[in-house]
Amino acid sequence: MSPAAVARRPAPGRPRRRMARMGPRLRALLELCPREGPVADVGSGHGRLALELKRRSPEADVYATEEGTGPARELRRLLSPGSGVAILEGPGLRPLAGLGCRGVVLAGMGGNTIVGLLRAEPELARSLAWACLQPAQREERLEAWLRAEGWTLGQRRAVLERGRLYRLYLVAPA
Ligand SMILES: C[S@@+](CC[C@H](N)C(=O)[O-])C[C@H]1O[C@@H](n2cnc3c(N)ncnc32)[C@H](O)[C@@H]1O
Repeated sequence: MSPAAVARRPAPGRPRRRMARMGPRLRALLELCPREGPVADVGSGHGRLALELKRRSPEADVYATEEGTGPARELRRLLSPGSGVAILEGPGLRPLAGLGCRGVVLAGMGGNTIVGLLRAEPELARSLAWACLQPAQREERLEAWLRAEGWTLGQRRAVLERGRLYRLYLVAPA
């Protein structure tokens, strides 16, 4: 075996952990998320961001949520128990009750939907230290609501992926 191939082999007793496939949007989201957990990726979908949040901070509790039974089952199939990500089922922030999450990610949903999810669980939303938001559309609606509710709009990013511009926000409740 060549020296390069030996160098690529995982250390004995250590499972090989490949980085999840992430485009510019997900990579920018990961960078924007503070390393302060516990953290939940709400509406995690494919679960790649949750996986990388866990890999980046193995000591932190990381949750990935999905609303319906079907999407939650698919998420369980995609994220093995060995990933260390805890999968929760339920709408929006509701499955996070009592978990003491410091941060949440709400990404890939419309601005109206994100507003609806934050409004639906006001106490949970207010208990957060940070939220990383990436509206798929209607970002002006999301921004207007955050301002009206007194949220602090911290860092913003704009990321181009396959010719489409995505806006990302790191925000904190009033
Ligand atoms: C377009 S995907 C985005 C997946 C991932 N967050 C990303 O940014 O790539 C939207 C996901 O949000 C989930 N979702 C929609 N409404 C939800 C809700 N009320 N609570 C939890 N998940 C929800 C959907 O099932 C879907 O998996």
